[in-house]
Amino acid sequence: MMRLGFALLVLCCAGNAAGAGEGPDAAPQINAKKLFARHCGWCHGGFGLSADKAPRLAGTAMTEEEVRLRIRDGVAGEMPGFAGDLSAEQVNALARYVKSLPTAP
Ligand code: HEC
Repeated sequence: MMRLGFALLVLCCAGNAAGAGEGPDAAPQINAKKLFARHCGWCHGGFGLSADKAPRLAGTAMTEEEVRLRIRDGVAGEMPGFAGDLSAEQVNALARYVKSLPTAP
């Protein structure tokens, strides 16, 4: 419960606090790299480079929109959907991040 409260606090207040000096990033309060490491990396590998348990994401041919829908909905029995755990903004940021992954480390 404490953890959820903290997450909500960060979500609603970090935007203002982090607004200055964060560069042109549209959503500076969302750290997509961290989200990826926490939610995706254990299947898709660090920086989406692994193809052991799940398809390699770095250099994916999917569009950002396709990636976004995949993260939101998952694949039954293969990959969890994140609509319940992550906000739409977080899912958007993750889709953008996946598309930005370099194809080599
Ligand atoms: C429990 C392991 C697991 C987790 C956690 C997971 N995935 Fe997946 N993901 C998979 C598997 C397995 C597939 C292949 C499913 C299929 O298409 O049959 C997949 C497919 C995908 C695809 C489609 C790739 C392609 O080329 O077909 C994308 C994009 C993707 N995952 C992104 C993510 C992102 C982003 C996260 C974190 C928010 C994530 N996944 C978390 C297991 C996982």
